[in-house]
Amino acid sequence: MDPMIWNYVTRASALIAWVLLVISVTWGILLSTRILKPNDNPGWLLDLHRWVSGLAMAFTALHVWSLLYDPFAYFQIPDLLIPFRSSYTAIESLGPWPVALGVICFYLMIAVQFTSLMLKALPRRFWKGVHYLSYVVVMVVSFHAGWTGTDTRAWVYRIVAIVLIMLTTIALFVRILFPKSARTLSATVEGRRPAQLSENLTTMKIANIFTPATDIRAIDFVLPNGAQLQTWVPGSHITLHLPNGLKRQYSLCGDPADRSQYRVAVLNSPKSRGGSKWIHEELNVGDTMSISGPHNHFELEPSSEYLFVAGGIGITPIKAMLESLPNRREWRLLYAGRSRASMAFVAELEQAYPGRVTVHADDVMGGPPNLDALLAGFKGEVYVCGPEPLLNALIARVPADRLHFERFSAVERSADEPAKPYEVRLARSRTNFTVQPNESLLDAINSNGGALISSCGEGVCGTCEVRVLDGKPLHLDSVTSDEDKDEIGVMYPCVSRSRSDVLTLDI
Ligand code: FES
Repeated sequence: MDPMIWNYVTRASALIAWVLLVISVTWGILLSTRILKPNDNPGWLLDLHRWVSGLAMAFTALHVWSLLYDPFAYFQIPDLLIPFRSSYTAIESLGPWPVALGVICFYLMIAVQFTSLMLKALPRRFWKGVHYLSYVVVMVVSFHAGWTGTDTRAWVYRIVAIVLIMLTTIALFVRILFPKSARTLSATVEGRRPAQLSENLTTMKIANIFTPATDIRAIDFVLPNGAQLQTWVPGSHITLHLPNGLKRQYSLCGDPADRSQYRVAVLNSPKSRGGSKWIHEELNVGDTMSISGPHNHFELEPSSEYLFVAGGIGITPIKAMLESLPNRREWRLLYAGRSRASMAFVAELEQAYPGRVTVHADDVMGGPPNLDALLAGFKGEVYVCGPEPLLNALIARVPADRLHFERFSAVERSADEPAKPYEVRLARSRTNFTVQPNESLLDAINSNGGALISSCGEGVCGTCEVRVLDGKPLHLDSVTSDEDKDEIGVMYPCVSRSRSDVLTLDI
């Protein structure tokens, strides 16, 4: 074989490995900052990141191995494994540094890959700390490539190198500027909405109604002209604007990839205040209805392993999450309900995901599921949607940073301090006013020209979300945890108030 082949392999594999490394780190940054979240699919995003990282590692290994046979390199195994052992240098004044940096990067890449493969067995913080080394690798590799490469005089190589270095710099800036990771709220399909001052209503037609379980109606909505719907992400809900004036939110439970229709499933609740009862008794195929959304307060975050827990009609957002995940993603579902007959889509889920779905019908099992046994040894993300007792049982058992939930109804919360008047400043409309102790913040905003939309009025649906620019809110809602709201600076004024004397809102 022509020995020059090895020289070509050395150079080509080095460049390919560099390109893949930059793509992998950039993709990882998109994954951790979730700046693509309005349209991404976290399951696939994570798989792509892993696949590209593995490929970068493979080409790096090929580059190192081929150096042993490269007729121009004169490397021996110790030169490739021990930093500063090789005396090779393309730039005299830098001595052994360029090759040594490459050797060190090789070891760092192995460490990042190895700890990722061992993720389940390692403490999350340790894994994260090692994973940050990939930022060091992608920067240092630029110097290694620039100082040792024999192609640096070729204009094609220079262009590729400049693009890679620019991409690396932009990616690292994005990482610094958007440090918050996944646990953010309100990834609506339109992106973050600072405050909803008007609702975009869409008229949709009821294309199909069926009964997936006792007392549950599943409804398919389509656009009357048959056009495609906007994209949505799992966990999203739409708001139905009923002709009787009520607004009700229901999770989308179809396949997020299917843009021909929105599907919701509605339980005829015995506690209905007119919403679900009307849908069960009055709605027919062929009717039209105004719909707003989708919006999302229950996002599926990227993870290597999921445990889903659904109670009763809480299966609806979870079902959409399952449909969005790649086949190879590790996940399990515990689907609990009073009886099998009352559990929507139960047979469909068992058939679609054999071995992954555990059905727990209380009337057969004689009591609630054993959550301790379910959670034993599990280190991944836990998603739960269901009745309050199920939610509370999981809140008591799973660390807050791994638990994601959506509530059906408001939790009773009372302020830990006496109600007092406070000043509100609406930054965009330049309006100031005082909210009295017996007045809701939402009412005060709207009576001062805010025109903020709302729905449940109980702090559950998240419709009235506003961004807080300054001041400290007193959260009394049940949309999500107070830490999450404070982290991204939002509040729900239908029930929440202010702790500080002055609260500045982005309205
Ligand atoms: S209107 Fe539902 S959370 Fe405020």
